[in-house]
Amino acid sequence: MTDIDDLRAQALAAIERAGDLEELDEARVRFVGRRSELVAAQRSLKDLPAEQRKERGRQLNELRGELERVVEQRHEVLAAAALQARLEEERLDLTLPPRRLPPGRPHLLTQVEQEIVDVFVGLGYRVAEGPEAEAGAYNFDLLNIPPDHPARAEMDTIYVSGYDDVVLRTHTSPVQTRVLTTQAPPVAVVVPGRVYRADTVDATHSPVFTQVEGLLVDTGITMAHLRGTLLELSRSLFGADREIRLRPSFFPFTEPSAEVDVSCGFCEAGTVHGAQAGVDGQAPVCRVCSGTGWIEILGAGMVDPNVLEFCGVDSRAHSGFAFGIGIERVAMLRNGVADIRDFYDADVRFLARF
Ligand code: DAH
Repeated sequence: MTDIDDLRAQALAAIERAGDLEELDEARVRFVGRRSELVAAQRSLKDLPAEQRKERGRQLNELRGELERVVEQRHEVLAAAALQARLEEERLDLTLPPRRLPPGRPHLLTQVEQEIVDVFVGLGYRVAEGPEAEAGAYNFDLLNIPPDHPARAEMDTIYVSGYDDVVLRTHTSPVQTRVLTTQAPPVAVVVPGRVYRADTVDATHSPVFTQVEGLLVDTGITMAHLRGTLLELSRSLFGADREIRLRPSFFPFTEPSAEVDVSCGFCEAGTVHGAQAGVDGQAPVCRVCSGTGWIEILGAGMVDPNVLEFCGVDSRAHSGFAFGIGIERVAMLRNGVADIRDFYDADVRFLARF
């Protein structure tokens, strides 16, 4: 028969030894659980002679009550210790200086690109995009640049090896032909994107740069619409007091073609515009416009009827204008950036200036 004092001593020792809540629970199950020796002894009371049963029943009951109390007390102690340990472990030192994460911002080229896109979205144009690895058909042929045309050589094209007639687009103009072959006029799109040329890197040349293209095709579109649109663009980029001038030029995909200049607003006090500049040892010449008073900013023209026809648009019923502007050049002029490489060097000291 179970020795009650012995069982009590064992149980109290085990409860005392329990170092955490898990060990305490093991001790509780072992000594007062449903399958414990104590409960078994209480169950077998009925087999005892009546005179022993009462006294032993009282003793077992008392022991059970005592052990349950001791378990409960120990539980309180261990639970408090566990909470304390967790609080220590999860302690936050609110006096530590915070790690500084300086806010980022769009790259200057992205800012200028977005500004131009916004001007045209405001005029009702839709944004269109095309792939940077482009079929020669879109980049050249449909733009009225046949295979033997000198413009192909001048463009310093980068070809994609392993593919017949795939190039890294040399301009955003192929998106004109992509749009015109899939969409009937009226068409009004603005096309931002990266373009590639096998140019040697220097202060003004980069093999990758950014253009924004514009295309408007409808009935009755004239050069006057082109001029008005580009004046709006130039003034919003460079200032409300600017003028533009169109000089005759040549592009295979426009006829007539023009190079567009914006009036120089950079001539500092003391420098001289135009015919006066540098004459008779006069004041120094403005470095931005070389004293001409004008800065070239983009190429444009009336969409060549060949391009319309190649793309399935009836050139007798429709006309349109197009232009392409280099973002790096605009950003350099506007923000006084002297070297195009600065845009691509990812030097935070440069980027943080804008
Ligand atoms: N694609 C020409 C270039 O990269 C720029 C250009 C000129 C685009 C005239 C046009 C345009 O749409 O009409 O040099």
